[in-house]
Amino acid sequence: MREDIQDAVGRVDQQRLWDRHMEMARIGAIPGNGVNRAAFSKEDVAARKLLLSWVRRRNFTVAMDAIGNLFIRRAGADSRAAPVMTGSHMDSQPRGGRFDGIYGVLAGLEALEAIEEAGATTRHPIELVAWSNEEGGRFAPCTMGSAVYTGAKPLPDLLEVRDNEGVALKDALAQTLAATPAPGKRELNAPAAAYIETHIEQGPLLEHEGKTIGIVTGIQGLRWFNVEVFGETAHAGTTPVEARKDALREAIAAINALHELTRDSAGTVRFTVGRMLVTPNSPNSVPSHVLFSVDVRHPDPATIARLGDAIEPTVRNAVKRCSVKVTPTLHDDPCAFDPKVVDCVERAAQALKLPHRRMPSGASHDAMYMARVCPTGMIFVPCEKGISHNEAENAKPEDLAAGARVLTVALLELANR
Ligand code: GLV
Ligand code: MN
Ligand code: MN
Repeated sequence: MREDIQDAVGRVDQQRLWDRHMEMARIGAIPGNGVNRAAFSKEDVAARKLLLSWVRRRNFTVAMDAIGNLFIRRAGADSRAAPVMTGSHMDSQPRGGRFDGIYGVLAGLEALEAIEEAGATTRHPIELVAWSNEEGGRFAPCTMGSAVYTGAKPLPDLLEVRDNEGVALKDALAQTLAATPAPGKRELNAPAAAYIETHIEQGPLLEHEGKTIGIVTGIQGLRWFNVEVFGETAHAGTTPVEARKDALREAIAAINALHELTRDSAGTVRFTVGRMLVTPNSPNSVPSHVLFSVDVRHPDPATIARLGDAIEPTVRNAVKRCSVKVTPTLHDDPCAFDPKVVDCVERAAQALKLPHRRMPSGASHDAMYMARVCPTGMIFVPCEKGISHNEAENAKPEDLAAGARVLTVALLELANR
């Protein structure tokens, strides 16, 4: 390994990285060691401010774009070169853990600081990005910040999206932008030379095999829908059951039919209904309206296309007495990462003598959208028992630091090409 790379790797500080995770985890802390830091909430703003407080003492430049993605840049020697980027997200699931997303941001910051402390010169700038609303738990769909940044989704199409309380994204976003102290403005669609995202695995493979580093080769396909069932409210005590247009009963029939559609003896299909809003949501009124979400995933392009295309007909066939509206909200085909970046991450793990394996990602990440615009890859580290989207999510300080070291090596290689 080159001397400047070795120097930077030696400056990755496991304790600093761990302490920052624990400090971040206080923002939106919930019982059971978890975190609830919804996108564009006051907790999101507090996390942004904490991140920027750590950045302030460095000679980095900070900018923000129209959807609130935050960019923290260490200059390169070639002022015309596009940045090599790294990052992830700071928002969490409603009952999320202390590592999903925030690890990729803090590992990126750790790499940036280690490189700065080593005084390494790079041709390209190296830039940390904290993507807005990756989780989609409050404002659906997920990976919104990177989708808007890369031009995959126009921001105006998303501004009317509402959370469960009826708050519009445009209002929550405006508050977040006003409260986040970013000195520079970043245009959407700015070019990137490469992107590497570091993340906990969110599955059990690495831990099970005693490997420290996952070299991520791609991400499985994902489609989201909102299904609405429209019935008629009526008195629960007086209206004969067979005379009703019960939107919840019909929604349940639709969900059961979708479970049949997605039944898979190979165990590869992932199908989830995770959100349901019932109106009027009263024990003694027949439900007049139900909205439920559909999340279906598969690594094979033909299978995810077939399953996604079958969602609406399956729902329509199952719902007999009510009317139905099916709105697709996300359509991400499976993505394969750039072999040059995958190889670069693998070489970094080898050089650091860390046990590693190649693996696909079951979860979605902002890397999926970045892969459409620049050479992209990801680094996984183990998490305890593979538990994620759960308060009990846990990871070892030494594994988090190992991932940050691999990232440091890979960034320095990519930024000097
Ligand atoms: C991201 O959290 C996903 O849904 O995969
Ligand atoms: Mn994540
Ligand atoms: Mn997540």
